[in-house]
Amino acid sequence: MKKQDLLNEFISLFNITGTPRVFFAPGRMNLIGEHTDYNGGHVFPASISFGTYALAQKRDDQKLRFYSLNFPHTGTIECGLAELAYNESHGWANFPKGMIHYMRESGFEISCGMDILFHGDIPNSAGLSSSASIEMVTGVLLEGLFDLKIDRVKMIQLGQKVENDYIGVNSGIMDQFAIGKGKKGHAILLNCQTLAYNYAPIEMDNHVIMIINTNKKRTLAGSKYNERRAQCVQALADLQTTLQIMSLGELTKEQFEQHKHLIKHETARKRAKHAVYENERTVKAFEKLQQGNLEAFGQLMNESHESLHQDYEVTGIELDTIVQAAWNQKGVVGARMTGAGFGGCAIAIIEKDKVDSFKNNVNKIYSEKIGYEASFYTATIGDGARELTEGVY
Ligand code: GLA
Repeated sequence: MKKQDLLNEFISLFNITGTPRVFFAPGRMNLIGEHTDYNGGHVFPASISFGTYALAQKRDDQKLRFYSLNFPHTGTIECGLAELAYNESHGWANFPKGMIHYMRESGFEISCGMDILFHGDIPNSAGLSSSASIEMVTGVLLEGLFDLKIDRVKMIQLGQKVENDYIGVNSGIMDQFAIGKGKKGHAILLNCQTLAYNYAPIEMDNHVIMIINTNKKRTLAGSKYNERRAQCVQALADLQTTLQIMSLGELTKEQFEQHKHLIKHETARKRAKHAVYENERTVKAFEKLQQGNLEAFGQLMNESHESLHQDYEVTGIELDTIVQAAWNQKGVVGARMTGAGFGGCAIAIIEKDKVDSFKNNVNKIYSEKIGYEASFYTATIGDGARELTEGVY
């Protein structure tokens, strides 16, 4: 949507004068390191150019009005600054409400109401973190409108708190971190235990990263996400009867193999195996990319998918069909699911001149087997959450 169209929408929806300020937060893809964040391991995500725009203006009373062009059927959602408790009937607006709530609770002075219009171009429920994108765009708009001095990592942690304590999804910190700290042309290797991170330039002259949406919708709250996390907590508790560790991310593969018998349930053992092996793969993948060894990086992506399929069991027929079809195409360096799984998106690294045949072939195989089509987007890695100033969008 064009800037002027968004401004016109804002004025006519809220029936006010003045010029709102404009903020943006991207979505994210994860190159490798899946279900490792809440296990104290590494992740390697990047912010993408799709994201959420928010036009916002202060009011001279205590009223908050939210509208999303993506959910027009819910209309304008209104509440007072003092009424920020979770409210199921507010649907998507709970994400910005939760962020305002925790920012205030942390002592940031948000003293008056606001009118906020959201517009996102991230496909909903596709595993590209549209919810973390709304949280982080709300964070930067509060920072901007109220002139707050807020450390970016603190804002990221408040976004995660919205998911965990307000919405009820026990997710890790990857999504908010990738979106809050994203950098154009770079992926971020993040140690989720210490929050130490490194940017890695993603320079691919002859290749592109393709995002493939299975178009199978999923929501984290309704998925098995929390169950997977609980199984990892159980595996860790079993290992802690003998080992002095704080998280599964501290274990090497060798240490895991030596002590895995301590994990009582076979399912929990498989989940922990994935967490440990995936963490090692992620660090190795980062090194391979630094060395310019794209082939080895792609191989690790493939192994990651296999482990998410076999041991973590979060892929499902849609993602498996896409990824297996991708592996069989010419010019594909690697492919895997990205995000939580259970539907959503996969990513593939492909030679530039094979993109058209890739799309046609993969879509044909997918739609014949699944009964509906996949969608394909070429990923561009953009900057993280920020205010958009004149002429930039
Ligand atoms: C979701 C969560 C993240 C992470 C991934 C899986 O995106 O929000 O914290 O756990 O799933 O890697």
